Amino acid sequence: MTKLAIIGGTGLTQLSGLTIIKRDKIDTPYGAPSADFMTGELNQKEVVFLARHGNPHTLAPHKINYRANIWGLKQLGVEQIIAVAAVGGITHAMVPAHIAIPDQIIDYSYGRKHTFFEDENYPVTHVDFSYPYSQTLRNALILAATKAHIAITPIGTYGCTQGPRLESSAEIKRMEQDGCDVVGMTGMPEAALARELDIDYAAISVIANWAAGKSDGEITMADIEHNLHLGMANMALILNAFISEN
Ligand code: HPA
Repeated sequence: MTKLAIIGGTGLTQLSGLTIIKRDKIDTPYGAPSADFMTGELNQKEVVFLARHGNPHTLAPHKINYRANIWGLKQLGVEQIIAVAAVGGITHAMVPAHIAIPDQIIDYSYGRKHTFFEDENYPVTHVDFSYPYSQTLRNALILAATKAHIAITPIGTYGCTQGPRLESSAEIKRMEQDGCDVVGMTGMPEAALARELDIDYAAISVIANWAAGKSDGEITMADIEHNLHLGMANMALILNAFISEN
């Protein structure tokens, strides 16, 4: 069976239903990963879980050691990653609490350690990133959503901002003109690093709020938490359906 990992973001620090079998603290050449890697069973299938922001949730998006996280997963033999992340909704279908399976990325982040290919261990290689997410894994997630009777948007462009602040309305307007449907802070370099190490990677974007300027008033943490609570419950149903089928 293909070895699966789930990286959980805001709103998913622990995977409910995961019976922990083993906890790995992995030291990497890139420093410490966000947290211990938890290997467990979900519906009788082995799954590795990693809390992207640490457990408890303390790491800001630009402080996450993406290289250590992906390298650690590779050491554990992981071949597939499902990355769960909260996002803001930009285009009209991306309403709060809804779920999208993005198919494209635009990276607006900066200053992050974004490649393995920069020293003698990994000489420079220009990996293909035309389609940043694994099509096979995306298709399986889309099918799982159908089986779980959860209406999702099966495509979308994810724009990755630096954070931790939210965006200005003008930044969101520009991102919309660029073609972004959702905005988050952690999709990159995570997706590219997985590609560099040849790990299949797909994302489940859970819409937590309307992005800046897309609704009246301020974006509040209370609204984000409320929408994430609803969206994460549906996300868990999709994951369960995915695990039963794969
Ligand atoms: N912007 C960026 N990241 C986010 C947002 C947002 O509006 N909501 C949740 N993560």
